[in-house]
Amino acid sequence: MKVLVTGGLGYIGSHTVVELQLAGYDVVIIDNLSNSSTKVLEGITKITGVTPEFYELDLKHKNKVQDFFEQHQDIDGVVHFAASKAVGESIEKPLFYYENNVTTLIYVLQELQRLRQQNFIFSSSCTVYGEADKLPVNEKSAIKLAQSPYGNTKQIGEEILKDACKINPDLKTVALRYFNPIGAHDSSNIGELPIGIPQNLVPYITQTAIGLREQLSVYGDDYSTEDGTCIRDYIHVVDVAKAHVIALKRLIKKEQDSNFDAFNIGTGKGNSVLEVIASFERVSGQKLNYKITDRRKGDVAAAFADTSKANDELGWKAEYTLDDAMADAWKWEQKLRTK
Ligand code: UD1
Repeated sequence: MKVLVTGGLGYIGSHTVVELQLAGYDVVIIDNLSNSSTKVLEGITKITGVTPEFYELDLKHKNKVQDFFEQHQDIDGVVHFAASKAVGESIEKPLFYYENNVTTLIYVLQELQRLRQQNFIFSSSCTVYGEADKLPVNEKSAIKLAQSPYGNTKQIGEEILKDACKINPDLKTVALRYFNPIGAHDSSNIGELPIGIPQNLVPYITQTAIGLREQLSVYGDDYSTEDGTCIRDYIHVVDVAKAHVIALKRLIKKEQDSNFDAFNIGTGKGNSVLEVIASFERVSGQKLNYKITDRRKGDVAAAFADTSKANDELGWKAEYTLDDAMADAWKWEQKLRTK
């Protein structure tokens, strides 16, 4: 069975490629290398012993997308990660985000429709819930106003999938709504490669600890949470990757009744920023240099998942702990800097 992974050299993409290969799939990767590198192929090969087929291709080029699908009609499923993901950047470059995340999705779906290919997994996000009224959020929670163009592209992406399914009963799609993926493969052969100053908490922590950044700013300790810092559902990236393999298998085996389905992919447990720092200090044996600063604009006090739908229907459950993920993130950071 052959699976196309768009954005397969990115952070979640590369971990998913590994899990697909370990599950016996042949993987073809498309990536435009805008936020990744061909070095990731070496990391994947070290883990699985197999180098996936790779095409450097930007999905914004419609003709090239058509040519690619024309030449690869033996694909049994598509896992679509290729997209930009920085919330702040999306506010500065909204049109680029709509083009890069929405237009490209349309081009891929048009090809699936034209060539009657059926199985599609969409990389979505907990950001689709906006500021939730009630926690934990489940898949029936309201889809509130998006907080950023990035969040909007994920909401629109899911709507596009639903509409595409309505006119094509053969199309089977799943949106996986990730909470906060962190960590790295425990072999330290692949992991997160943030370009420039990291915006996300965990790479900022590990870069501070290794000496690349002076100090972590903890954005606010006056939220209505137990220790006053924000709460998120941090999930090991390998757990996230495994969810894709299970969801895809289910589509290929025609075990999903509906044409569109969505699942929360989280641990179901919230941790505060201070708890994440404590976990890092515990597993690394290092004191982290941090200070409390003002709140970051756009942050919600707390977000964590009700994962019972994924647990019950997919038979998937997060297996790694926060400490596992922090230990793997730290191992990866150390390996990166000693290369
Ligand atoms: C955001 C998006 C999410 C997206 C993810 C990846 C929303 C609601 N969430 O997650 O959809 O997939 O980015 O880009 O849009 N923090 C600090 N100091 C730092 C960095 C972060 O204290 O230097 C805190 C933040 O205030 C937050 C937590 O750490 O409480 C996690 O932040 P971050 O890693 O940026 O992820 P989210 O904002 O939750």
